Amino acid sequence: MELYVDTANINEIRECARLGFVSGVTTNPSLLAKEDPNVDIKKLILEIYELIGGHLSVEVISTDRDGMIKEAEEIIEWFPNATIKIPMIPEGLSAVRYLSEKNIPTNVTLIFSPTQAIAANNAGATYVSVFMGRLDDIGNDSLYVLYDICEIWDIHGFESQIIAASIRHPMHIIEAAKAGADIATVPYKVLMQSLKHPLTDLGLKAFLADYEKMLSNRNS
Ligand code: E4P
Repeated sequence: MELYVDTANINEIRECARLGFVSGVTTNPSLLAKEDPNVDIKKLILEIYELIGGHLSVEVISTDRDGMIKEAEEIIEWFPNATIKIPMIPEGLSAVRYLSEKNIPTNVTLIFSPTQAIAANNAGATYVSVFMGRLDDIGNDSLYVLYDICEIWDIHGFESQIIAASIRHPMHIIEAAKAGADIATVPYKVLMQSLKHPLTDLGLKAFLADYEKMLSNRNS
């Protein structure tokens, strides 16, 4: 399962790119709004793309088909490898159908049910983003929803890639991997939490202390 970072923060993306285990970035209007309000969005997106090199989903803000398509075409002019993030609304499906016929990759976002995921796949979505944390927030177990979607994908051999999104903690990453999601897009803080284990830290400390002891015995 690939890991993407879910952020528009350039420092977090720079660090992920440096560490080398993250293969893409997803952004959304709320994540962009958390950054400098005077930011030049095109400049920021291009900077992010240059850093990560791989997948970059950029979300449209229009809610009508033609507006979404116009925005998508502008983003594609910024950089041709862009994946256009489209909300899971009927107008969005129509835009996805149009864009998929032009071979422009799409990521259908705000998916909370298997029926929404099926519709997005059938409209030609390249990716379907299933929101785990927001389902759990309303007492709807995201694990069941994600498992159902992955099972349906296996039965029918659907082609859209499944992104587990709205990840809140490392257990969500494990659940997404077990369910069979292709990708998990994860906030920077949670990605870093998922790398930590107290036994790793203790083990490294002991290895280094033993090595130091060996060197001081050798020199005495
Ligand atoms: C990613 O594509 C989504 O926009 C993101 O994961 C939403 O996460 P949130 O529910 O924590 O805002």
